[in-house]
Amino acid sequence: MLDDIAKTGTDFDRDLAAANDPAALDQVRVRYFGRKAGAIPALFERLKEVPKEEKRSVGDALNKLRDRIKSTLDEKTAQVASQKQVGQRPLDVTLPARLPPLGHLHPITIVRRELEEIFLEMGYSLDPGPEVETDWYNFEALNFTPDHPARDMQDTFFLDVDQLLLRTHTSNVQIRSMERWKPPLRVLSCGRVYRRDEITMRKSPVFHQAEGFLVDRGIHIGHLRATLEQFIKRLFGADLAMRMRPSYFPFTEPSAEVDMSCVFCRGKGCNTCSFTGWMEILGSGMIHPQVLRNVGIDPDEWSGFAFGFGLDRAAMIKFDIPNIRTLFENDLRVLQQF
Ligand code: DAH
Repeated sequence: MLDDIAKTGTDFDRDLAAANDPAALDQVRVRYFGRKAGAIPALFERLKEVPKEEKRSVGDALNKLRDRIKSTLDEKTAQVASQKQVGQRPLDVTLPARLPPLGHLHPITIVRRELEEIFLEMGYSLDPGPEVETDWYNFEALNFTPDHPARDMQDTFFLDVDQLLLRTHTSNVQIRSMERWKPPLRVLSCGRVYRRDEITMRKSPVFHQAEGFLVDRGIHIGHLRATLEQFIKRLFGADLAMRMRPSYFPFTEPSAEVDMSCVFCRGKGCNTCSFTGWMEILGSGMIHPQVLRNVGIDPDEWSGFAFGFGLDRAAMIKFDIPNIRTLFENDLRVLQQF
């Protein structure tokens, strides 16, 4: 009987090695565990005839064999099943390769690049200028005297060191560029600016501006108007109208605020433009003679214009983004749309 048990064990090992698919493994299972003709039930049946003294050792050997056969058979069945899943997928050699995920340009970057391209084509140079500034470049040279009330228009972050501050606008670049280069000059400057504002739907303490300015002989407000009209139409649409309203900035005289037709209703009047048909888009003016004098340019020989433009607002208008926070949260679900 012990010999038969051992032989059943070796038979099983051979049968198992030969069975490599689910159907063959089923057959093996039936051959060893089938109720009618299975080898293991048959051996258990014969246990009755084993003499009493041997019953215990023969029974032990038989139990062990049954457990071993069952666990190795289960193991191989599971293994074959998982292999089959992989093998079942036919190899499709026409399947396009998986591309690495591409990055996306931030909406502000898109607007900045478009603007830079428009002005580079008009012969402007790019000059970023520093974000950490002195009072001179951010205020004083731009004709904000120390107690000038217009300083209140821009609540400033002051740094603890050397009376430095974070620039409140990109207009500092006017002074920096005019100091460094002789006229004629045409400069566009895009960058970050800082103001002590609460975060709201439309305001953030960090935001982006573009500053453009031009100094040459015989420059008048018609040049300013033509330049602004050109870039607004290219950035937002050729069908939009533009208008200038008198305004005040210390560094320009005269100064003008510029509106364009509301991009949402194209000037017809809607909620966004409070049914005026217009949206305010930038500040501008003729560079104040005192500003030119401050950088050693003779206002009797040279004149120029300047304008300042909010890039965040432009991106919000262009891409219909209602909340400025969206631009700073870096949510991939948003950024991947651009
Ligand atoms: N610096 C102004 C601001 O931040 C914007 C501005 C207005 C810039 C008129 C200009 C300009 O160059 O001419 O509010």
